[in-house]
Amino acid sequence: MIDGYGRVVDYIRISVTDRCNLRCVYCMPQEGVQSVCHEEILRYDEIVRLAGVFASLGVRKIKLTGGEPLVRKGVPSLAAELNELPGIEQVTLTTNGIGLKEQLPALAAAGIGGINLSLDTLNPEVFERITRRPAFQQVMEGLEAALGYPEIPLKVNCVPMNVEGQNVTELAEFARRYPIHVRYIEMMPIGLGKQFGFRSEAEILAELETRYGPCRPFDGTLGNGPGRYVSFEGFAGKIGFISAISHKFCERCNRVRLTSQGFLKTCLQYERGADLKSLLRGGASDGEIRAAVEAAIRAKPASHQFLQRQDAEEDKETHTMSQIGG
Ligand code: GTP
Ligand code: 5AD
Ligand code: SF4
Repeated sequence: MIDGYGRVVDYIRISVTDRCNLRCVYCMPQEGVQSVCHEEILRYDEIVRLAGVFASLGVRKIKLTGGEPLVRKGVPSLAAELNELPGIEQVTLTTNGIGLKEQLPALAAAGIGGINLSLDTLNPEVFERITRRPAFQQVMEGLEAALGYPEIPLKVNCVPMNVEGQNVTELAEFARRYPIHVRYIEMMPIGLGKQFGFRSEAEILAELETRYGPCRPFDGTLGNGPGRYVSFEGFAGKIGFISAISHKFCERCNRVRLTSQGFLKTCLQYERGADLKSLLRGGASDGEIRAAVEAAIRAKPASHQFLQRQDAEEDKETHTMSQIGG
């Protein structure tokens, strides 16, 4: 699929649930999270049918996200079904790591093509302050378990914040010691993220170079998303940056999102897209759904406007990251 700006869209992020077993301060409110009732969430057969339509339009890579995807039962079988679809080359997962140890054997058997694990700190007390849950040990067990599957590419996602005690440099040790890629994500002003300042790529890179010496740019791609990577001498893995603020990457955007409620979102920052669940449940044919997807992708916005003042208020995203799927 080619959008209105000539960008090839071959990657879809599918959120299987907006629920999560953590409450990261920049992603979900502490209390008052409204649970969406089960009927409003796409069933797996509906997700597979829509994915078939996306594949017929040229989507090749699928990322399963949440909320936390592993809180929904049956994610490994969904991954296996998606992997079977003609045209789909890779199905990957982004998880907070809780539940990973238990589900890894099934995910590996399903042919999962990569796992990204979110981990913002190595300090259990800081972890609990950021995620509001005492789950550090479970996440570490998930990470350790994933190291036991070297055939599954593994990345760690860290969002640096101005939080006391969050030492993000020490997370880079994983990339030094293991073939894991550690990525630093600039905080985006989406949902609750608006309340936090961001620490820039330049700032983090300077800290890393002070500790590990100068880095070299890495020209290859490692995954399907907006990460850019550098190499440090003696490291087994790469260090990556996802810098939507300081290094806007929208002109290379290759992706759209399907929310757990079946809305096709064509840009992270906008409500724009198509309500595919209503079409599906209203009895639309694959051809009608395909036409709706094509029209939505043709109207995909050129870029986010994180740094501009709000222009068209009604067009801006009002959901939290957990509802969008990251
Ligand atoms: P791989 O490159 O395949 O490993 O995946 P990814 O980096 O796309 O996936 P992941 O779920 O780990 O996302 C990492 C971060 O990138 C999250 O914070 C996402 O919100 C962010 N991200 C992914 N796509 C976009 C995008 O289109 N725009 C912006 N601004 N951020 C994005
Ligand atoms: N800005 C940047 N990254 C975010 N994530 C969640 N909210 C934000 C935000 N506002 C990250 C999570 C996870 C990934 C899927 O998205 O930490 O690693
Ligand atoms: Fe859950 Fe991820 Fe949001 Fe944290 S960032 S609350 S782990 S969905």
